[in-house]
Amino acid sequence: MCGIFAYIGHEKAALECIKGLKKLEYRGYDSAGMAGFHEGALRFVKAAGKLHRLEEKLAESAHNFSSAISHTRWATHGKPTENNAHPHFDEQQHVAVVHNGIIENHVALRHEMVQQGINFSSETDTEVIAQLMGLSPTGHIVEKVSYVLGRLRGSMAVALLHKDYPDTLIAFSRECPLIVALDPITGQAMIASDSNALPSMDLDITYLGQDEIALIKKGEVLFFDKAGKPLHKKQERLGHDMHLVSKQGFDHFMLKEIFEQPDTIRAAFMGRLNEESATVEFEGLNLTPADFLNVKRVLILGCGTSYHAGCIAARLLEEYARVPAQPAIASEFRYQNPIISPDTLVIAISQSGETADTVAAVREAKAKGATILAICNIKGSLLTREADSTIYLKAGPEISVCSTKAFTSQLTVLALFGLYMARLRHVGRDEGKRFIQELYQLPQLVMSVLEKAPLLQELAVKYSRYNHFFYLGRQAMFYTALEGALKLKELSYIEASGYPAGEMKHGPIALLDEDLPVIAFACNRQTQDKLLSNLQECKARGAPLIVFAFEGDTDSTSLATDIFHIPSTSDALAAIPVSVASQLFAYYTALARGTDIDQPRNLAKSVTVE
Ligand code: G6P
Repeated sequence: MCGIFAYIGHEKAALECIKGLKKLEYRGYDSAGMAGFHEGALRFVKAAGKLHRLEEKLAESAHNFSSAISHTRWATHGKPTENNAHPHFDEQQHVAVVHNGIIENHVALRHEMVQQGINFSSETDTEVIAQLMGLSPTGHIVEKVSYVLGRLRGSMAVALLHKDYPDTLIAFSRECPLIVALDPITGQAMIASDSNALPSMDLDITYLGQDEIALIKKGEVLFFDKAGKPLHKKQERLGHDMHLVSKQGFDHFMLKEIFEQPDTIRAAFMGRLNEESATVEFEGLNLTPADFLNVKRVLILGCGTSYHAGCIAARLLEEYARVPAQPAIASEFRYQNPIISPDTLVIAISQSGETADTVAAVREAKAKGATILAICNIKGSLLTREADSTIYLKAGPEISVCSTKAFTSQLTVLALFGLYMARLRHVGRDEGKRFIQELYQLPQLVMSVLEKAPLLQELAVKYSRYNHFFYLGRQAMFYTALEGALKLKELSYIEASGYPAGEMKHGPIALLDEDLPVIAFACNRQTQDKLLSNLQECKARGAPLIVFAFEGDTDSTSLATDIFHIPSTSDALAAIPVSVASQLFAYYTALARGTDIDQPRNLAKSVTVE
């Protein structure tokens, strides 16, 4: 989390940085700040709160930066105050630093420097980087950075300015993403946490690797390893049309992304389904069919919404491909000394490919010999570089902090993977063909849910005064309920729990009364009768019942206080249209309650700290 953007090229560096930060605000929005050279002197502007506060202060300051570094913060160490906002400086104010990550030994370093008489002015871990730079032995800037890198433990993407190098942006990174971009024609150069933040122009981009250092001047970028030895790094061309991001007339990015889902789901399967052989062909896979045939167990890792996609996929893999499959929360998995054999396939799911816990869990699994398949949306992200192979979601940039289209694309790609594994094993061509036909129907099913958005808005408005909700379901619908509850919590700050419907009677039913609405996802035919009994139990306790049920399900309709109909599909794929409906319900609830939909409080889209 935290976004970094730095620019060198023309006199309007501050403006370029603001444009970049606007596209990085999803990574944190507790405070923002910028430092740059104004008439040869190092100056800075910081503001607590969202980016527009920084913009206002910059306008007042009239600084005309020729080069600048900037930052949007998600607070880890120290409150989200102006004082803790980045950039941070050494005592002499010779060095300005912006940082994404966590310095694990910051307490010891701070203590050591305080003993030497250094005064600190913030509560952040980042300030130790600036102070260390200030104390680093004399020598070339690369030697100074090497020294600092050698003293730091933890994760970091850093951009800095040094008063003796006013024509240079300096960057280094370890375990956190940082991209260096150069316009080969004008020589403008930038540093960004994410390629989406870069301007729409043809750029040569380079990802900084582990402990690598970059010196960036107008028209020139030099790379060094941590010992200061020059490096030759491969550049990639990022086309000007590859990073356009706008709301396209929608009120929020979230709503736009919800409505994009017929297209993004289609993009996830287009060109991958082979109808003739009733199987799936993933482009660019480094693993062979024989590798997948040898798999005896699948572990699926992820965090947040991606973990929920993993839960649903594990059920599908066991049921259709008959491979033992378990989901695991990445932040727990990495510390449990997992049992992994050479025939274990680890699937790591991450929209961003940057989530620190997921990447760390993958490293742990790799160290134990697992093969890693990443399911990811962002090309070239950290996760895809760690994995043996990657299947991309092709969902396009997801800007809303709450994940919507990435989730349904994950479910679609994982359903394709389930079909692929099933066809490699026991599932015949006819069954495979039937599954493909169902996949083809998905965009249309989702479209019919979207057409009924006004009904979901009515429902959301009706229930928006309640402060607690229960989401219930069975089998895949239980995990869909977890995701539905997460969306409502994230967006509207309403307390919501997802629960397996059959477990309600073992405790949580004690909470039920007329002030606790139950949202039930009744789209699992296998367990439908049992779910209906559970819902009767809820109704008997006076809880309002909102049921999402397949069209034609009269039993649910007669039981429900309010019903929303989902077009019919198989149990295996029902999570997709149901999730789209529950995303809309959460969106409209948040709208009714007036919360910050695209950037809910305390959250960030890419969580690059543990
Ligand atoms: C954050 C986001 C969630 C997301 C999770 C995992 O918590 O707010 O929306 O599901 O990270 O992100 P990933 O990029 O790994 O899918």
